[in-house]
Amino acid sequence: NADALTRAESLIRTVPDYPEPGVLFRDITPLLADAVALRACIDGLIAPFAGQFDVVAGIEARGFLIAGAVATVANVGLVPIRKAGKLPRPAASVSYALEYGTATIEAHDDIAQGTRVLLLDDVLATGGTLAAGHQVVAELGGVVVGTAVLMELAALGGRALVPDTHALFTV
Ligand code: PRP
Ligand code: HPA
Repeated sequence: NADALTRAESLIRTVPDYPEPGVLFRDITPLLADAVALRACIDGLIAPFAGQFDVVAGIEARGFLIAGAVATVANVGLVPIRKAGKLPRPAASVSYALEYGTATIEAHDDIAQGTRVLLLDDVLATGGTLAAGHQVVAELGGVVVGTAVLMELAALGGRALVPDTHALFTV
């Protein structure tokens, strides 16, 4: 399985000047498109937390791709954490800073008090999104037992906000 993870990492595509000049964008879509690489990544995200979570929470939009697969493989349910305005009955709503401006994420109260939650996203960059995800889960009464991402962009320093995050790959 180390081979499959090596293959997965090699399938992350680096795109210069997207979404703006000077930015090196790490694109995970070639990895997602490869069955062996995708499965190795999903297994690798679950492994450190096996048996320790009752539900996964995934952050819109790319976090949904990860969370859906993890939930199915780990045999647990999934709570989507959505961008503001998408859910009919949000019970928790948390705003966080972006490079320019702010964003808000929300979730329904489908997490019973004390439920053990594995929080998932595709990428850890500045950490604002995952830190806000932690707050959403906490407001609902869930307990975040772990945070996991496919890839950490170390230069952006997001780990300071979410120190225990399990990152499969670091660039
Ligand atoms: C991206 C990515 C993470 C977040 C990481 O999402 O999928 O959720 O940014 O950045 P941060 O660590 O600096 O907060 P984006 O907001 O671009 O939304 P998308 O998934 O809908 O493309
Ligand atoms: N790739 C994917 N998501 C991101 C990136 C990136 O390079 N930077 C911030 N979010």
